[in-house]
Amino acid sequence: MEILKTEILVVGAGGAGLRAAIEASDHGAQVAVLSKSVLGKAHTVMAEGGIAAALGNADPKDNWKVHFRDTMVEGQMIADWDMVSALVQEVPERIKELEAWGALFDRDENGKIAQRAFGAHTYKRTCYVGDRIGLEILHTLEDQVIARNIEVRDEAIATKIIGSNDKNNNKNKNRIAGVICVDLKRGEVFAIQAKAIILATGGAGRLYKITSNSWETAGYGYALAFDAGAQLQDMEMIQFHPTGMVYPQSAAGLLVTEAVRGEGGILLNSKGERFMEKYDKKRMELSARDIVARAVYNEIKEGRGTAHGGAWLDITHKGANYIIKKLPSMYDQFNTFAHVDIKKEKMEVAPTAHYTMGGVKTNINCETSVAGLFVAGEAATGVHGANRLGGNSLADILVFGRRAGINAAKYSSKTEYAEMDKDEISEELKRMDAPFKSNGVHPSEIKKAAQKIMWEHAGIMKTEHGLRQALEGIEKLKTMKAHADGSLQYNLTWVEAIQAAGMLLVCEAIVRSALERKESRGAHYRSDFPKQDDKSWMVNIICRNMKGKMKLEKKPVPQMPEELKRLLP
Ligand code: FUM
Repeated sequence: MEILKTEILVVGAGGAGLRAAIEASDHGAQVAVLSKSVLGKAHTVMAEGGIAAALGNADPKDNWKVHFRDTMVEGQMIADWDMVSALVQEVPERIKELEAWGALFDRDENGKIAQRAFGAHTYKRTCYVGDRIGLEILHTLEDQVIARNIEVRDEAIATKIIGSNDKNNNKNKNRIAGVICVDLKRGEVFAIQAKAIILATGGAGRLYKITSNSWETAGYGYALAFDAGAQLQDMEMIQFHPTGMVYPQSAAGLLVTEAVRGEGGILLNSKGERFMEKYDKKRMELSARDIVARAVYNEIKEGRGTAHGGAWLDITHKGANYIIKKLPSMYDQFNTFAHVDIKKEKMEVAPTAHYTMGGVKTNINCETSVAGLFVAGEAATGVHGANRLGGNSLADILVFGRRAGINAAKYSSKTEYAEMDKDEISEELKRMDAPFKSNGVHPSEIKKAAQKIMWEHAGIMKTEHGLRQALEGIEKLKTMKAHADGSLQYNLTWVEAIQAAGMLLVCEAIVRSALERKESRGAHYRSDFPKQDDKSWMVNIICRNMKGKMKLEKKPVPQMPEELKRLLP
């Protein structure tokens, strides 16, 4: 087996991973990036409406303190104040840096970066380029990675993080030593020995039947980290974006950007009523995402939905030129997939699984409880609490991608390579071979069944009964073996087979955490406990790996210092 050596291995080539790689390289570390897709095609490109930063261009009253308040309040006060404070103070600098690297932003009439309204932000603070901000950011970062000659192994996946053997041959599970990978182009297994690993593997939207997420994001990074001994936190906090496409079925779930509402789009039910009046009269369509998503869900459930089971989103009143200028991708998307001309016709929309607010627990330096393992972006948790504000995830990947790069570089400059545990490697090689030998089912059967369970029982509305059914279903799926034929070369069936157990583990973490939290908070809505209960539930829920078993624990949210408390309402 080929064994490569690099000081820092970044797993994931989305915005967080590339930003981390750039920074680690600029801090003098030798860096390699592992990318599941071809470079430049990561889920980040699907971010549409904008990146939140309190630049104060659209409204001079805006500043980081208001951004801090909005983020904490809408996260229902369980986000990590320390991380939020870093996020909102550092993101303006990250935007300037992107511009200096060549990123283009739309401008206002004074030539400054334009900023548009997004739900539950006090001021217009979302910076954008039409509705294609993710593409602009990712390609800018990609250029910087190439300019630095950073090695990228694309179309390659990590299957397991390997721990170390120390000199006395005592197993030291609590330190990473490398990763086992498969090069899908060549169909070959290889290993990468690294002093530090930065996981930037994105979220878990693909665990749901209807999602805005691309195929790369089925949560395997969470399983990799958990298996290596790291903790998961707040996994019950799954965000449903209020507006995904509903028709045609092949496009169901595809994101319909919040920018449509930010630019004046209104939501209507089948009776033509502007129903947000009932749910949040003040903020209307620009209420928080959890509120708008539940409102759309409710209208459909109560029989006021469209023929395809959605609500109407209408921006026709803004006129053709405005729509084409501000929302070019939305125009193309509806035209291509649904043959709907959004200049003249309403869009049909419904909630779609969009973002994982929970994730691997890290501190502000992106360190986990496992030495040498760093995590950034959607794979990590802490910044968004119970409900993420639109535009804050792009802020997160830049701010914490950079932080992960700095801290991994510092760590690796003081650390020697560790020897990879040989037993772990041979166990993993056996596991990789198993799908070819088993006479189990096609892995898509397992995946589809899990997605259906998660959508029906761990979705936008949850109950004890439904969650118990979900857990039972997941446990049953765990007993099924997945089968694959052929070689490793571009064998996506095999990839699904090898990742099935990890995917089910992440489903289990989401369901168990949702069962544990007996209240409703932000995106986590339990119809059997519909109230937020600040007396009992100002906690984060942690999933620990206790010798292979998942153990849950409640941890009170950290106390905020007085000077930050004063910023809250
Ligand atoms: O609606 C959107 O454009 C999504 C933005 C986000 O999730 O931050």
